[in-house]
Amino acid sequence: VKKLLVDVDCGVDDAQAIMMALAVPDVQILGITCVHGNASIENVCRNVLRVLKVCDQMEIPVFRGASKPLLGDVLNASLFHGHDGLGDAPDPNAPGLELAQEEGAVSAIIRIVNEHPGEVSIVATAPLTNLALAVKLDPTLPQKLKALYIMGGNTDSRGNTTICGEFNFAADPEAAYIVLNDYLCPTYIATWEFTCLSKLPWEFCDVWLAQDTNKARFMKKIFQHSIDMCNNERINNELVSGPGFISCDSYAMAAAIDDTFIIESDHKAVTVELSGKHTRGMMVVDHLEILKTTHKAYIMKKVDLGKFKELMMNALK
Ligand code: BDR
Repeated sequence: VKKLLVDVDCGVDDAQAIMMALAVPDVQILGITCVHGNASIENVCRNVLRVLKVCDQMEIPVFRGASKPLLGDVLNASLFHGHDGLGDAPDPNAPGLELAQEEGAVSAIIRIVNEHPGEVSIVATAPLTNLALAVKLDPTLPQKLKALYIMGGNTDSRGNTTICGEFNFAADPEAAYIVLNDYLCPTYIATWEFTCLSKLPWEFCDVWLAQDTNKARFMKKIFQHSIDMCNNERINNELVSGPGFISCDSYAMAAAIDDTFIIESDHKAVTVELSGKHTRGMMVVDHLEILKTTHKAYIMKKVDLGKFKELMMNALK
């Protein structure tokens, strides 16, 4: 059994990633920790509870985490995910926030990893604030992790939020810096460009959403806003507007679920630019090994898209 802790800012693709993991029998989600990002922390917690309700897995504990980045202002991604983070398709019977745990996310991360040393992998599909705080409180945390899977960053200077910054890193550059420098455990990164280059055809999306299940009906409702955005010329970026849809966070999740998912990756030291006027929040890849750091991350380059489609299909079954 694979033990996962999932750290999310539950927008639509986080929901897709969570549902993917919930559908795999030998995956055990020990907890879902919430953080600011795609929507406010309240909406993120509510969204996770909604996903768990649709999947009939309300027993998985949900923890509320940081509502702001370590420094600077909160960003959100309402343009893509809707104001509530799930496509502004509210459920009048959504579970109440009182169903989230009393314990905070950072303390839960430290506790759960320490309860299962060497066994837990973290899948982080959000700004890395909770993870940065956790390692500062417990510096031994990374050595007790099995692995860390991150959706975030970019390998060239093309951002999707700032000129050069991908959303999860740009929303808390200091946290991304701390995590990439301090988590000395096997680290796998699904970057923005990688996810754009690994998109799935819209024809697949149609079949995926047409499944006759409650989960598919829920996904169809919450995904419509993003689908409309993709068809809208406001996102005038050839990486995005080419045919196909991107479920960014699901690539990090698929890698955590299936050890054979990643076919090719670059093994490089990575860090984050903190001070550039135009480049703050941009991931920096140390191709020339100038940083002289021993810790390198696996930056995904090629994955098994057949397997990915299968995991995505099963998520809504
Ligand atoms: C990332 O930003 C968020 O909007 C998505 O959920 C994903 O985690 C893509 O840059």
